Amino acid sequence: MVAAGDRTQGEAQQGQPVDALAARVALAQKLARTAGSKARRFFLRPEALHPELKSSSQDLVSEADRTVETWLRAAIGRHFPQDGIVGEEEAATRGTSGYVWVVDPIDGTMPFLVGQPNWCVSIGLAHEGRPVGGAIYAPMLRELYWAMEGAGAYLNGRRLVMNPDWTLASTTIGFGATQKATPEEVGEFVEGLYREGGVLFRIGSGALMLAYVAANRIAGYYDPMLYCWDCWAGAALIREAGGEASFAGDLANPGPIWAGNARVHADLKRLSGA
Ligand code: IPD
Ligand code: CA
Ligand code: CA
Repeated sequence: MVAAGDRTQGEAQQGQPVDALAARVALAQKLARTAGSKARRFFLRPEALHPELKSSSQDLVSEADRTVETWLRAAIGRHFPQDGIVGEEEAATRGTSGYVWVVDPIDGTMPFLVGQPNWCVSIGLAHEGRPVGGAIYAPMLRELYWAMEGAGAYLNGRRLVMNPDWTLASTTIGFGATQKATPEEVGEFVEGLYREGGVLFRIGSGALMLAYVAANRIAGYYDPMLYCWDCWAGAALIREAGGEASFAGDLANPGPIWAGNARVHADLKRLSGA
């Protein structure tokens, strides 16, 4: 990882200007807050949500998800019309700048719809396909996380540094499997984790669980299948907090993700059979 001071002035890794990235990270924070306030207004008026099933009874979308994503896309387009956008509820748009915004208007739709506070807006940034920053805002928890490549990861202004000594057994481990995973693979992973002294944690938002890894609230996270909008910003947070996050999907395809300090990351991969 390159520290900000190690760079040639005005240049980040692989040639993207620092100012170009910093401007986007600053906007991501502002948009995450405003989008979060909009989603919160829906949350407080559940009769206006009109939830609909997507792939299963555990995979839902509501008026809030659609309205907030449409608003985010328009706001990004006004500031950076040359950037691409990938989001959960609408088709991807291509850009010409090399930057792509990776947007989940509400990550944790199920908790959101049943009145739990553990949901967030997640805005990741990719440059030439790599995670380079992002912002996650959890309105009901009043928590803003952000990260920028080479500049660190922060929670409400406090720098995040992951505990390098934790093991699977030090505290709980986030596990995101939904109905997209088979009962057998879920069972095998949970059995292996408990055999090694681990305990499960799950709050229905992959983005927030990844942010919790960066903030030393859980020791690691594994999900057998996430989309980029669920995990892009969270992966950037973890890398900037000194941890490891590997996403086997990309901006177009879902895949598993493993995250933690170096040891936990390797152990989660092993336990999942990767
Ligand atoms: C979901 C959450 C959940 C994860 C699912 C995702 P959504 O996103 O991140 O934690 O396990 O795979 O689909 O639908 O709430 O945006
Ligand atoms: Ca999501
Ligand atoms: Ca979502």
